[in-house]
Amino acid sequence: MFGSIYSIYTEQQISAFPIRYNQTLSLSENLFGALLKRNTQTHSELDLKHLLSEKRIKGLWRLMRGYHLEYTAAITAQGFSALAKAATYMLLSFFVDNYLVTSIGTYPIWMISISFILLAGLQGIFTYLSGRLAAKTSENTVRRLRNYLFDHIQHLPFSYHSETDTGELISRCTSDVDSLRRFFNDQAIGIGRISLLFIVNFIALIQLNTKLALISVIAVPFILGISIYFFRKVSKAYEAYQEQDAVLSTTLQENLSGVRVVKAFARQPYEIDKFEKNNWEKFLRGKKLLTIHSLYWPISEVLCGLQMLVGFLVGALMAINGKITVGDYLAYAGLVIWIIFPLRGLGRFIVQMSNGLVSYDRVYKIINENREPIDEGKYKPADGVKGEIIFDHVSFEYEKNDRVLHNISFKADAGKVIALLGSTGSGKTTLVNLLPRFYEYTSGEILLDGFDLRCYSRRFLRQEIGIVEQEPFLFSRSIKENITYGVNREMTREEIEQAAKKAAIHDVILTFPDGYNTLVGERGVTLSGGQKQRIAIARTLLKDPCILILDDSTSSVDTETEGQIRSALESLMKDRTTFIIAHRIQSIMTADLILVLEDGHVTQKGRHTDLVKKAGIYQQIYNMQTRVETELDEELSNAG
Ligand SMILES: Nc1ncnc2c1ncn2[C@@H]1O[C@H](COP(=O)(O)OP(=O)(O)OP(=O)(O)O)[C@@H](O)[C@H]1O
Ligand SMILES: [Mg+2]
Repeated sequence: MFGSIYSIYTEQQISAFPIRYNQTLSLSENLFGALLKRNTQTHSELDLKHLLSEKRIKGLWRLMRGYHLEYTAAITAQGFSALAKAATYMLLSFFVDNYLVTSIGTYPIWMISISFILLAGLQGIFTYLSGRLAAKTSENTVRRLRNYLFDHIQHLPFSYHSETDTGELISRCTSDVDSLRRFFNDQAIGIGRISLLFIVNFIALIQLNTKLALISVIAVPFILGISIYFFRKVSKAYEAYQEQDAVLSTTLQENLSGVRVVKAFARQPYEIDKFEKNNWEKFLRGKKLLTIHSLYWPISEVLCGLQMLVGFLVGALMAINGKITVGDYLAYAGLVIWIIFPLRGLGRFIVQMSNGLVSYDRVYKIINENREPIDEGKYKPADGVKGEIIFDHVSFEYEKNDRVLHNISFKADAGKVIALLGSTGSGKTTLVNLLPRFYEYTSGEILLDGFDLRCYSRRFLRQEIGIVEQEPFLFSRSIKENITYGVNREMTREEIEQAAKKAAIHDVILTFPDGYNTLVGERGVTLSGGQKQRIAIARTLLKDPCILILDDSTSSVDTETEGQIRSALESLMKDRTTFIIAHRIQSIMTADLILVLEDGHVTQKGRHTDLVKKAGIYQQIYNMQTRVETELDEELSNAG
């Protein structure tokens, strides 16, 4: 109770100073200018993965690298502010004893008044500087951390992303990083400030009266003990709370990405119910966290109140008995508040610090993940990639002992077209994903132009291989930006339009309100699946790769557009090794090699003319598809 009144008063006093002392500040700003104006960009390139440590305090300290000076200066400024405050009370004691109780003061009264004003001014300046330096430290540290996290996540392997919920990553990059910002801005500086306040005022108290000083800190061990006990409890509760926060983020993110499915199946009530359940769980965990916090406050409040009461009582008795002067008692009354206030604050910071430490662990877990070694493998053919690919008994498993591809062997000559046919889940996408080294094959060998794929760097392979994905993703940017996404140079309008024409999308783009500048997605046009696919094809055309992968690229278009795209693709496929995955035999009949995949095994391979004659799955699919198509044609001609 006492504590909260005093802390409110003092916090207000502190926050009022920056305004009052604004003008005096220009001088001190010059003095501290060098510190405040240091370039904020120079530390953005830190390799946090190797810098940080599993040990939290050590890791947090290292996270501040480059700003240690600012941090120390912030605390030192707090120390000066504390000194000025203690000096004010000492001056008060001197004033009361020498001017009010007796009149033996030798200095003119105006000097005493100016000293009071000066001390208050100094206190304000230092508090302001400390606040600014603390903000600089925390904001820059966290800005750099955010940048690093984003950069790091961009470089994590495919497997990491397929195993981790996006919501979990978002939660760690936003909510946990923010919790770290609060840690640096409030708690880390606060603990330094409060320790200094305590030490300076305690020394001042000892100067007044040692016995009284010792009596004033009896409660310290109890308060510290209780704080540490609560620190542990809050840590656990906060960790659980953050985990639930991630669950809620994932629920929201999945719901928004899959909003079409939700609507199509009219599953809104189910989704709302799921969200409410998760939100309720978050509420319960938040309540538990707050309950622990609210239990801590009264306990520490009572202890601090008792401590002050004992101090005031003993001090008053000593003043009555003449062991200390009235001035000393007045100074004591002021100083003891500045012992109790930091003490209470220290406990509070220790408890709050647990949030920062838990968040550090959560963020560190991402940072500690290994990046995909994108530049590992140094071989680069001098005269470019020709495109001969050999699969030699290649097997692959996503998870240990669960093979998805078994002993795959075939040879794709440079510039030829290889078609993959097979039922859903048979491993077609998995097979082509091995080529850009999205995943590493478990056994066997893949040779590109006679060299093991592992000799080439992932970066090089991904530059040389163009993929039109099964479900192409477009960014919420303009159509032009989406088409030129994979190209690292300025493109002329003609080049872009040429690619769009080849992909049979140019005419469609012209019908949009802003043509090529039309935005895609929420703020612009909504594209159909086929339109997206064609934009993805145009994007790959511009990239001009040596090896081309078309994963079901014509699945979402009608037969007429498919015809247009196919002729575009045929010119695109010329002189490039092309892997084409398609469900319609029509799309792959002209391929140089057809691989039929069943449950991760290549069960048939050859050209269309041979395969269609052999009894097997290819023949069955062919017969079925031609029968369906003739029936359709007949029906259409009958209807016509
Ligand atoms: N990231 C992954 N982690 C674990 N298993 C996976 C992963 N991706 C695919 N699989 C599994 O590997 C198998 C082959 O999947 P793949 O996507 O290669 O099939 P597909 O032939 O491309 O099917 P579709 O015609 O439906 O596209 C499936 O059983 C699938 O469940
Ligand atoms: Mg697939």
